[in-house]
Amino acid sequence: MNSDMAAETKGTAKLTLPSGKESNLPVIVGSENESAVDIRALRAETGFITLDTGYMNTGSTTSAITYLDGEQGILRYRGYSIEELAEKSDFVETSYLLINGQLPNKQQREAFGQQLTRHSLIHEDMHHFFNGYPQTAHPMAVLSSMVTSMSTYYPDTMDRNSDIDLHITRILSKVRTLAAFAYKKSIGQPLMYPKNSLKYCANFLHMMFAVPSEEYVVSPIFEKAVNQLFILHADHEQNCSTSTVRMVGSSGANLYASIAAGVLALWGPLHGGANQAVIEMLEEVKASGIDGKKFIEDVKNKKDNRRLMGFGHRVYKNFDPRAKILKKMCDEVLTHMGVTDPLLDIAKSMEEVALKDDYFISKKLYPNVDFYSGIIYRALGIPTNMFTVMFALGRLPGWIAHWKEMVEDKDTKIGRPRQIYTGPTERKYVPLDQR
Ligand code: ACO
Repeated sequence: MNSDMAAETKGTAKLTLPSGKESNLPVIVGSENESAVDIRALRAETGFITLDTGYMNTGSTTSAITYLDGEQGILRYRGYSIEELAEKSDFVETSYLLINGQLPNKQQREAFGQQLTRHSLIHEDMHHFFNGYPQTAHPMAVLSSMVTSMSTYYPDTMDRNSDIDLHITRILSKVRTLAAFAYKKSIGQPLMYPKNSLKYCANFLHMMFAVPSEEYVVSPIFEKAVNQLFILHADHEQNCSTSTVRMVGSSGANLYASIAAGVLALWGPLHGGANQAVIEMLEEVKASGIDGKKFIEDVKNKKDNRRLMGFGHRVYKNFDPRAKILKKMCDEVLTHMGVTDPLLDIAKSMEEVALKDDYFISKKLYPNVDFYSGIIYRALGIPTNMFTVMFALGRLPGWIAHWKEMVEDKDTKIGRPRQIYTGPTERKYVPLDQR
């Protein structure tokens, strides 16, 4: 599918430069009437560039994958609302939708599921790699290196004419195995091979929690929760990690290298690492015995540059629709398990305080997807340092879909922003003995 199919040029915007010179810039309009001033010719015509640190207001591409309206709290994958997909779809079907642009029919769905099952094993030699890491290794470091390492087993990936669909199936299936193996290794348990009778998410839970000495039955409620969590994380248009995947891929780097870069970008606490940071924050509040209100006061006073982790979003300035679904799921999972989690109570009370507080209201800071996901992961038995890995597994189809869209777009250029230089002007080199 050509990502530019729905983008139309509708009129021009006039820019007057300090010299009085005028530039007429085309206005591009997308299928949901989002408008952009196309500045691609600006520098050649005028010598000016645009400056937009953090890409707060820069469209890096057109894309037909995900529509997001941060003001209205809308998120849709290929036109389908996140609420409907979370309720009615499963992760494999949603992955197919993101990657291929359409929901699969029965045969396509079956074939895709079978392919994912068939490719779930990793090369036996890769098991040795896990032995080289110290017990303290963060699973995101292990995962990113393992994803890069996978490219060494499929060297034809360097050839852009190789079977891209096969690489996509491999990566989608095997990364799940690598993630579970990294966890098993970190706790010193034997690696559990995938079980082909199980569906994608159930198979992941099996590899994570089964041990050879005992029968492990995957709880349907856990399987549903993982499916929903993965669907909610599956894509989010041009976020930090996805833009990284596109940027790395734009140089011609192969799919494995591009996805590994996405994993690393996701690791940061301001992005995917926030789910781990939320739990650490809640644990800190609990351990210190202070109430959430005091913590929020510290955040407002920017004490030690504190932030209320799991709050705020670059694009959602109303609410994050994913957080609403997760809050409900969180209650469901905990009620079903008959457990209470003191961290959930702290989270709820902090959320209540923050949502009424002028600091958060005026800055439009609302709970994001990570505020409740960590509590659900805890309930499922997933350790804190694996939370961001869970996010990476969910985000995989989105990264893949964007990489595929980019390589299939004939207008793709290598990502290469400009800058405004602020360093010294030209000066003469002074020999060491004269300085
Ligand atoms: N707690 C307290 N204050 C905050 C928070 C927060 N969570 N988020 C933003 N602010 C404040 C900033 O201090 C800043 O205040 P100022 O104007 O007085 O300087 C203002 O709100 C704007 O913040 P920016 O960092 O400029 O906003 P930006 O859009 O760049 O940041 C981000 C978005 C990174 C998500 C931010 O809200 C944040 O750090 N949140 C906490 C981390 C988090 O939950 N990340 C997960 C995001 S969702 C995801 O990646 C899946």
